[in-house]
Amino acid sequence: MTEEITLPLIDPSIKGQILDTGVIGFSFAPQIVFGHGCMNRVGFLSLFLKAKNAFIVTDTEIEKLGFVSKTQKYLEKSGVKSTVFNEVEPNPKEETIIKAVDKYKSSNSDIVIAIGGGSVIDAAKVIRLLVKQGGRPSDYDATKCTIMAIHESLPHQISIPTTSGTGSEVTVVAMISSGKEKLTILGYPLISTIALVDPQLTVSCPSKLTAMCGMDALTHAIEAFISLRVNPVADMFSLQAISLIHHNLRKAYSIPEDIIARINMSLASMLSGMAFNQKSVGLVHACSHQLSSQCNLAHGLANAIMLPHVLRANKKVAGPKYITMATGFGLNLENLVVDEAADKFISEVEKLNKDIGIPSKLSDCGVKESDIEIMIPGAIKDISALTNPLQPITKELVENVYKAAF
Ligand SMILES: [Fe+2]
Repeated sequence: MTEEITLPLIDPSIKGQILDTGVIGFSFAPQIVFGHGCMNRVGFLSLFLKAKNAFIVTDTEIEKLGFVSKTQKYLEKSGVKSTVFNEVEPNPKEETIIKAVDKYKSSNSDIVIAIGGGSVIDAAKVIRLLVKQGGRPSDYDATKCTIMAIHESLPHQISIPTTSGTGSEVTVVAMISSGKEKLTILGYPLISTIALVDPQLTVSCPSKLTAMCGMDALTHAIEAFISLRVNPVADMFSLQAISLIHHNLRKAYSIPEDIIARINMSLASMLSGMAFNQKSVGLVHACSHQLSSQCNLAHGLANAIMLPHVLRANKKVAGPKYITMATGFGLNLENLVVDEAADKFISEVEKLNKDIGIPSKLSDCGVKESDIEIMIPGAIKDISALTNPLQPITKELVENVYKAAF
């Protein structure tokens, strides 16, 4: 008699799974071009997409590094003209997007090329959306409308990341600031047409930013792996990313020109993005979005500080998965029970934070105790909290993790 084989689509160690049908969506677009020096293909790829006038979205820091003029040179060689919009700020504002949309239209552009970190790539996605569908970014906030609100096919986008962290080049999501609110804009058409990932561009990324972005990538990989959504393919990406980050982030931080560490971090960031694009994130991101909008903390820094504390809270439901991740870290778990092994994993995350100069407390970063009360409602309703393994997301839970991190 043949024994029935059940695919391990649902982890029995985690209660409250939101997917119980065994049906999984796999979608790992965009087209990816990855490799040291591959940025020189931007002209050819634009031509391949039948572009004539490129709209380059970036910021002044990236422009100073010479990446924009280099891109323009490659575009010119392929006969593609370009217009530069360099006004994207960290946590990009609604007004900036609207200004860029006007410039895109008046320049007769037909493709967007984003060169920068997550803020730039996110801004570029929403610029394309408004060019095609009109309105303001807040009209498309995922907490107020369905995913079908973004339904048109948008102008092409080539995304060239200059940091290793957000994974925005491979995701369908963009974060935009509207006053003190953080908008989550989510829709399949937002995804880049081509992710052009050249690790050489990350070599000039300062150590502090390398550390924060690297911890953002680690948070994506971990939160996706323990998410309530089930997707074994995405889990492979998470585990590979967790291992790559553990073995390369310290080196990329301390020896910025180490190209092997940079290549591995670019790969890890992209894989983490591909994982959370399928499985979403969790309470770390729900809390950190409020820290960025309320206290202006950099996204990666907020994630890095919150991560160990949220891991401790989630341990009671997701602890067995911590063992798998600890194996990716290469930790020796011999003779440890689940709880001890999970604690060892969390301690290793804290050690990594310390080794790359991340402050251990929110109070060291200008957050005031009175901010916690203000941030709690936003964290509870944040879309990222929906897939956190520990549910429900109560006021008490959010308050506890903020206070533990304070
Ligand atoms: Fe993130």
